[in-house]
Parts: sequence; C-alpha cells; structure tokens
Amino acid sequence: METVVSGIRSTGNLHLGNYYGAVQNFVKMQHEYNCYFFIADLHSLTTHPTPVNLHSSVKSVLVEYLAAGIDPDKATIYVQSDVPEIAELYLYMNMNAYVGELERSTSFKDKVRANPDNVNAGLLTYPVLMAADILIHHATKVPVGKDQEQHLEMARTFGNRFNRLYHTEYFKEPFAFNFSHNLIKIPGLDGKGKMGKSEGENNAVYLADAPEVIRKKVMRAVTDSGPTVENQQKPEEIQNLFDLLKVVSTQDTYDHFNNLYNTMQVRYGDLKKQLAEDMIIATEPIRERINAIAADTDYLHKVAQLGADKARESASKTLREVREIIGFRKF
Ligand code: TYM
Repeated sequence: METVVSGIRSTGNLHLGNYYGAVQNFVKMQHEYNCYFFIADLHSLTTHPTPVNLHSSVKSVLVEYLAAGIDPDKATIYVQSDVPEIAELYLYMNMNAYVGELERSTSFKDKVRANPDNVNAGLLTYPVLMAADILIHHATKVPVGKDQEQHLEMARTFGNRFNRLYHTEYFKEPFAFNFSHNLIKIPGLDGKGKMGKSEGENNAVYLADAPEVIRKKVMRAVTDSGPTVENQQKPEEIQNLFDLLKVVSTQDTYDHFNNLYNTMQVRYGDLKKQLAEDMIIATEPIRERINAIAADTDYLHKVAQLGADKARESASKTLREVREIIGFRKF
C-alpha cells in the first residue's frame, strides 16, 4: 500500500484553505492508503511562538483534524516534535541542500519580504525539514494545496541527491496530491491572493468560526461596482468570490450567480449572503464537534500517544537504515 504523509503548521486554527487544500483529502485518503498526518510544530518555531501559544495551537490543529473526520484508528496522527527522528534526518538532509537553491524558493523570498527582521536559518531550511517529514516514512503521495508544490519538488531533489551520493535507491519520490487532480488554491476574502492565517483578520474563514462571524466576514469581502458589459472577464476580487462559491455551493447556485453576472444583473449582497450560508452549512458538522473534542483531554492524550508510538516505529526504522547508509558504525 502506498504511503501518504502531510502536515499543517501549528499557527492557530484551520481555515477553509487548509480544509479544502489539505484536510478534506486526508479524510478521504485514510481509507485507501497508509497515512501519516502530523502537526508541524517544529515548523511553527520560525515565528517564535510563546510556550503557551505553541501548545494551544498544537491542540487546535489536533482537535480540528479529529473534528474534520480523521480517524486515529485508520491514520497515524502525531505531533512532529514527538518524533525526534525527524529532526535527526533533517540534520542529515541539510548536508545536501544548497544555500543557493534554498534562497531561490518562492516561499522563502515571500517570508523575507514580509518579515525582513526575522530571516532565521530555520526559515531558510524550512523545505529541508519538510523533506525530512515526508522521506522519513517513504511517502509517495503528499496531499497539499498549490502553494506547497515547489516544496515537494525540493523534497524530491534532496531525496534523489541522497540516493546519488550514497549510490542507493533508498528514498522514493514524493508527489503533491489532490483527489481533483489539480492542486487547489482557495482565495481569501480581501480581494487579493490566497486565504491564509497571516493575511489579516478578515481574509480567512476558520472552521471554528461561529455562523455570525462567517456572515460578517463574508459581507465585508471586497467587491467592485458591478459588471458594465455582458460576459465580461471578472476582476480578481469577484473571481475569488466565484471560486469560493464553486467550493462550498451547489453547481446550480454557482450557475445562477454566474448567469446574473454575465447579464449584468448580479447583486453582490445576495451573492455574499448565499456564500456565507453555504460556508456555514459546509463547516457546521466540523464546528459542532470541535468543542466536545477539545474538552476531552484524556482522548487527546491517547490519540497523541498512539500516534507518536506508531510514527516513531516507522521513523526509527528509517533512521537506522539511513545511519547505516551514511556510514555511522558502532565500535
Ligand atoms: P500550511 O500550514 O501553511 O498549510 C497547511 C496546508 O493547507 C494548504 N493551504 C491551502 N490550500 C489551498 N488554498 C489555500 N488558501 C491554502 N492555505 C493553506 C497548504 O497547501 C498545506 O497543504 N509547510 C507546510 C506544512 C508541512 C508539510 C510537511 C506539508 C510541514 N511539513 C510535509 C506536507 C508534508 C505548511 O506550512 O502548510
């Protein structure tokens, strides 16, 4: 059976981008593959969370994984820092990742631009840690959103380079995966780019958001003054709203508003109201489970312990083999 690995950084609650880009695929994949889904708390250290925030963010992601339907008896769910073998593999992989290629990564350049005062080495080697996450379990499929495509390419590069260096075929090539065949990018509500945690308060809709919060955020979404000719191309902020409709609403609803737009009769207020209601319906089952799961600390403890044990079993086998390949021998 093919192995699947994916993770989400523990920097707060999950939003619709995380859900549709990644978690929804996790839930489906757990029935068909040998799955490892983790909470990337080591990755979150690049932004220096306080100990309290770190722990509460890890908890949120764990709770929301479970609320979304990941079953700890089917998939291995674990916290990245509970598996120290990942950090050791990261160290080895750093030896064949070159500074030049890391500096050229788009996400590194974006982060440098956004936070010029915090360009730490962990940020530069972020894709190496990601490669270690994936290679440690020999995953071939990695469910992620479009923004992670380049990181997957780097994971293949580092694994292949290791293989060449040691004349082995030890690491397999991992590829980004989405059930719809195309990797997706969920837009935010601010009229610009993708939905994200660091793109401002009103850009993202979270799985844990109450219905009235979702309504408020959607009603504030950026629009223009409306189409001026029939069948005109939609400007980015309008296209984004239609892209969101495509994800949470029925095809009929999408076609209805698309026809109104194309015949210059669209009323954005109506469109947004419908979009908000469909987002509320789509997230309702998850939202309802979040509080109950969060209150059950015994259960969370059991899930994390079981996951750490299973993940460490797989990871320590890889580490033993990697150390042997590299040439570490006991005297
Ligand atoms: P992160 O935490 O930024 O995002 C988690 C997952 O959500 C997807 N995603 C989106 N998909 C579509 N549209 C969006 N607007 C959107 N926003 C986020 C991301 O593509 C991702 O799949 N580096 C990773 C975490 C990670 C990882 C790994 C993933 C660490 N190690 C190993 C896979 C394998 C990250 O920061 O994702």
